Amino acid sequence: MKSNINKLNNRLEKAYLGGGQKRIDRQHAKKKLTARERVNYIMDEGSFEEIGVLVTHRTTDFGMENEVYYGDGVITGYGTINNRLVYIYAQDFTVFGGSLSETHAEKICKIMDLATKVGAPIIGLNDSGGARIQEGVRSLGGYADIFHKNVQASGVIPQISAIMGPCAGGAVYSPAITDFTMMVENTSYMFVTGPSVVKTVTNEEVSSEELGGAYTHASKSGVAHKTSANDVECLEDLKKLISYLPQNNNETAPLLPFTPKEELRDVLSTIIPENANKPYDMHHVINGIIDTDSFYEIHKDYAENIIVGFSRIGGRSVGIIANQPLFLAGVLDVNSSKKAARFTRFCDSFNIPLLVLVDVPGFLPGTDQEWNGIIVHGAKLLYALSEATVPKVTLITRKAYGGAYDVMNSKHIGADLNFAWPTAEIAVMGAKGASEIIFKREIANADHPEEKLAEKEAEYSEKFANPYRAAARGFIDEVILPQNTRRKLLKAFAMLENKKIELPKRKHGNIPL
Ligand code: HXC
Repeated sequence: MKSNINKLNNRLEKAYLGGGQKRIDRQHAKKKLTARERVNYIMDEGSFEEIGVLVTHRTTDFGMENEVYYGDGVITGYGTINNRLVYIYAQDFTVFGGSLSETHAEKICKIMDLATKVGAPIIGLNDSGGARIQEGVRSLGGYADIFHKNVQASGVIPQISAIMGPCAGGAVYSPAITDFTMMVENTSYMFVTGPSVVKTVTNEEVSSEELGGAYTHASKSGVAHKTSANDVECLEDLKKLISYLPQNNNETAPLLPFTPKEELRDVLSTIIPENANKPYDMHHVINGIIDTDSFYEIHKDYAENIIVGFSRIGGRSVGIIANQPLFLAGVLDVNSSKKAARFTRFCDSFNIPLLVLVDVPGFLPGTDQEWNGIIVHGAKLLYALSEATVPKVTLITRKAYGGAYDVMNSKHIGADLNFAWPTAEIAVMGAKGASEIIFKREIANADHPEEKLAEKEAEYSEKFANPYRAAARGFIDEVILPQNTRRKLLKAFAMLENKKIELPKRKHGNIPL
């Protein structure tokens, strides 16, 4: 018995050392935690149970039979985060650079299958040199198996990827299919082809960081939803994200205790500037409405003209989509439409109610936008919000012009409750543009065209730059005082809690992609 126990302990000891102390030291020298340290950090203490710790690769080419490490470069298992079950895999860069072999892929697939069957989130901590070069197509097949399972699990369980080291080639596609991709600044990068291939094919000289570092993907491509300064911060961010999510698509996110806050009531009344063309920060509105410090922003540095993120209102998880007048006056363009549509679909998949805050002057005009397909991308947001069956509430704080009025969760596309502040302006377009078109001849023939324009503009504003015509038609359910907003929304989401909509049976809709 004793010798058998020793044999097991010897094996486990070796497994826990991954690729050995030297390689662990190298990992630490790069300011990165090891895979095992990451797993132990993110899981509740003592909760992690490893699966497949003694798995080894089966390759015999290139002398690989003499290079065998228990676990084969990935730690897989389950445990709890804040007492809620999650499944996890963490690639171990100290073993063949965390590269993906056939068995490494099998371990990940096994854990994904368990997560999907049981119905709990799966977290992938990626730190890998990509396909295990010694294995060729078996490794490529392993990747494809993972991609396929990612797709099957999409909309069933939350899938979250953290990129905590290299992530190149086809390896980027699993994170891309998952719901959220987080990146660690300076130590992680993602690209389909690295700088040397780029140089060969296009003659461009670019560093790894510039091509696919955290900043690039957070601000330029939108591939990364969140970036963190280091491993620990990334794991903390991940834990926080999980707190807003349900375990699976049949459950709702946990209702957390909250403290009533009345102190910000009056702040809401002073946010909208006197001049309707002056910007303001929509974050102030969000913070005045939600439970204190509960906003978790997604895609913060990408398409900043729209804000998306999770929050809590009365302890309830709520997804917020809000035009941001501080950037491009809050217009809808290609990137902001894509950003908000993706977020909408996540919330709808996982029963997270939506709050849409509207201050939008319309869609961004121009050849750049038209040639990049604003028609299709704007339609994507329209489709996503229209299709969503979760509780949907809208608040128009100021402008709601033109097509953007329709798109931003209007009553017509299925919003359950539509509120407006008295400062709301709901019209086909702004008063100046409208007057220039409909009174064109009258203005041109006037003795003082500018005065005439100002007069017509004032007349148009008086008629349309308010919420009352829309309220008279029932398109707005209630015009509310800013200081009552939190109370109204809290009651609205509580009232809508048991909302149920059965859609006609179909394979799937055909969202404009
Ligand atoms: C096997 C690998 C490996 C790989 C790294 N290693 N990548 N082993 N397969 N893909 C091993 C190294 O031999 C080394 O072993 C250890 O991991 C650490 O690697 P280093 O190069 O010393 O580390 P570093 O300098 O930090 O560079 C990391 C790296 C580099 C940038 C990731 O290793 C690299 O460029 N690797 C190859 C990347 C790549 O081209 N992968 C294939 C992508 S194509 P020792 O024994 O010294 O510790 C792909 C297709 C997938 O993935 C398609 C799916 C559809």
